[in-house]
Amino acid sequence: MKEIYTNCNFNPSSAYDVAFKAENELNNARKIIAESIKANTDEIIFTSGGSESNNTAILGVARANKNKGKHIITTNIEHSSVYNTFMYLKDYEDFDVTFLKADKNGVIDLEDLKNAIRKDTVLVSIMHVNNEIGSVNDIDKIGTLIKSVNPLTYFHTDCVQSYMKLPIDVSKLNVDLISVSAHKIHAPKGIGFLYVRKNVKILPLIFGGGQEHKLRAGTENVGGICGLAKAVEMQMNFEKIDDIKRNRDNLMEQLNLQIDDISINTPSINAPHILSVSFAGIKSEVLLHYLEMDEIYVSVGSACSSKKKGSRVMQSIGLNDKYKDGTVRISLDETTTMQDVQTVVEKLKKYVEDIRKVTKYKKR
Ligand SMILES: Cc1ncc(COP(=O)(O)O)c(C=O)c1O
Repeated sequence: MKEIYTNCNFNPSSAYDVAFKAENELNNARKIIAESIKANTDEIIFTSGGSESNNTAILGVARANKNKGKHIITTNIEHSSVYNTFMYLKDYEDFDVTFLKADKNGVIDLEDLKNAIRKDTVLVSIMHVNNEIGSVNDIDKIGTLIKSVNPLTYFHTDCVQSYMKLPIDVSKLNVDLISVSAHKIHAPKGIGFLYVRKNVKILPLIFGGGQEHKLRAGTENVGGICGLAKAVEMQMNFEKIDDIKRNRDNLMEQLNLQIDDISINTPSINAPHILSVSFAGIKSEVLLHYLEMDEIYVSVGSACSSKKKGSRVMQSIGLNDKYKDGTVRISLDETTTMQDVQTVVEKLKKYVEDIRKVTKYKKR
């Protein structure tokens, strides 16, 4: 990235000689990224991140195919960049939306999906890994099912949380569109891509020059895209995934053993890097601020959870009310050590006990 920004900060579409270097870098990056999901290079559209990829996929496919039908399907556990886009299409563009409900393990029931698909269903969008609890939908089975019921229905999946954590091979999946965000794999913020299988009928959101196969106008962010390609190269062989999972499982076990009255919300079939845990009698924001004093940064809910109603995901998995206010998500990566896990367990135990003492919490 440094090389691009210092010696090669040219517009890759320009005709002068030095700009070819920028174009070459862009082409190389596209090749690396396409290869990471076994796609063709002309099926990769660079965007500003996961939200833009999701918006482009959903709005672009729904609008381009509305003459075939106006029924679209998604789930109640999607990231807000998917969920709110479906709400928008329902409220402002007159689409008929089915919101499938995830079960207590945070996954969609295939029978429910099968029953929901109709002749006029043009798009199904179901996320791969859920960002709040780490549950995993079987996108292989889901894609096959969709195509067997209605071969004309497009399947989009939000892979923001699964990319580089679980293998994704579009040559074997019945998936038409995939959203990815760079900053989830240690690449820069403000970059992502949308995989669009050849021959998918889709309209752009951003009109202008002909960049990104006419699907996303604007001069490409070559430095950011090369940063993404570099991050992909460094993680391509999934070497560290088992370590991340081992640490996460250890964290889960220790919390269960050492802290009373908690709920582990991450189901048994899960992505390796996410742990969602709720503490009865605790306000998660208070816990977050205690932990940050030790430079431990956890997340509380997500942008999609409204304060009043609580998280859609937690509602869907049927989290007991006593845990509702005390949910944190802990994310691990390849730099997390066993010692880190130990420290987090100790601190959580101490702070949860301290807070419960102050608030005189009694187990119910
Ligand atoms: C599942 C999921 N989808 C989409 C997004 C949005 O990605 P971005 O922040 O790159 O817009 C996120 C971000 O947290 C996410 O977790």
